[in-house]
Amino acid sequence: MDGTFNQNDIRHIVDADKAHVWHHLIQHKQFETNDPRVILEGKGMRVWDQNGKEYLDAVSGGVWTVNVGYGRESIAKAVYDQLMKLCYFAQSAGSIPGSLYSEKLISKMPGMARVYYTNSGSEANEKAFKMIRQIAHKKNGGKKHKILFRDRDYHGGTLATMSAGGQDERAMQYGPLAPGFVRVPHCMEYRAQPEWDPSQGSYGEWAADQIEQVILREGPDTVGGLCLEPVTAGGGVITPPDGYWERVQEICRKYDILLHIDEVVCGIGRTGTWFGYQQYGIKPDFVTMAKGVASGYAAIACCVTTEAVFEMFKDDASDPMNYFRDISTFGGCTAGPAAALENMRIIEEENLLENCTAMGERMMGNLRALMDKHEVIGDVRGKGLFLGAELVADRTTKEPVSEKQMAQVSAECGAQGVIIGMSNRSVPGLNNVLCFSPALIATRDDIDRITDAVDVALGRVFGA
Ligand SMILES: Cc1ncc(COP(=O)(O)O)c(C=O)c1O
Repeated sequence: MDGTFNQNDIRHIVDADKAHVWHHLIQHKQFETNDPRVILEGKGMRVWDQNGKEYLDAVSGGVWTVNVGYGRESIAKAVYDQLMKLCYFAQSAGSIPGSLYSEKLISKMPGMARVYYTNSGSEANEKAFKMIRQIAHKKNGGKKHKILFRDRDYHGGTLATMSAGGQDERAMQYGPLAPGFVRVPHCMEYRAQPEWDPSQGSYGEWAADQIEQVILREGPDTVGGLCLEPVTAGGGVITPPDGYWERVQEICRKYDILLHIDEVVCGIGRTGTWFGYQQYGIKPDFVTMAKGVASGYAAIACCVTTEAVFEMFKDDASDPMNYFRDISTFGGCTAGPAAALENMRIIEEENLLENCTAMGERMMGNLRALMDKHEVIGDVRGKGLFLGAELVADRTTKEPVSEKQMAQVSAECGAQGVIIGMSNRSVPGLNNVLCFSPALIATRDDIDRITDAVDVALGRVFGA
């Protein structure tokens, strides 16, 4: 830490937090006796808390966001310069960074054409849902309005995105949810559905075929969109099985269903390509992104579409309803695209996609080696610097370890100065996946330090 804080200032900050801040996803009873963690500073891959303790951050700001690491002066400067020039104007008008970032972004997304700016992943997803609904109205009076989502996927915390959420613990007690969203089965081979018969073909194709079954049950003329994460994040870091995406794409074409890929976590480098969907040769109609777009230096999210989708919102200028009648106030903040432009320049200049791929392979190798040592690791999965390790009490029955044990592993890593993540209030009974998403700048030493901490933590909690 740079020493700009004195103890009185820090105590005041912690007390004010305890008295007034409502943190996300936390039961606050514990803060009647303990202090919440307050992060005071960050530099590179490291952050410091109120006690001056240094941590190596293996989750890029807790929720896979700070892709280029903390303390980037050039991003701060780009934002400062832009704010002094023009902080905001509503999106009825354009802006310099909004224009330039759209051009740069589209250059990384062959086949895509239009960028709609907004300010959170949930909001970007809602824009895509609204566009799909409006297209349905245009095409067949709204009949083709249903949106399919997948078991274990997550698309946000608003009521509509939770209605499209496949993580039941997130939605419990918040109902009634919105109608018109329909669940399809997950594609996690490690916990393949018992109905799958391996003698009849690959799991990937079978899992995709289950989507077709849902479409046939609902009626293809009622289904307008399919929303999927390229690699499921909080639902357990689920990489798609071989053959899955090819089949999904075929099914969408066959039934004229728009494919919406939620890249809120994978977007902008997390898997080693600009977008997760590019790992699997997918051709989406919508791509939404948020977290890594500006690495958390400013709030920005984007809903990107093809020109064909865009065309449907301007092909009848005589109809007063024939355009996207949506507003995102803070989509007009110029700090977002200014930060995003510089974020992308850094990724290119520092070859961070290549580093992500190489460090991801190293981390995967380290986790596999830990699997040989610790029976409790049932499976490791991931792509690039987006990895997960599923912990089980028994490798044969795959019974998950308890949530208490998961919390102990995380705490033991924290005690060693390494912050890791874990699935949390997500899939009932299956919150048993350790999550890793270090910044794309991670070095070999950083990666080894993270997996060494996990090794020690597993030894302490479960015995070596
Ligand atoms: C895959 C995915 N989609 C959407 C969201 C929602 O993003 P936000 O929290 O910015 O609304 C998240 C957040 O974790 C996510 O992981």
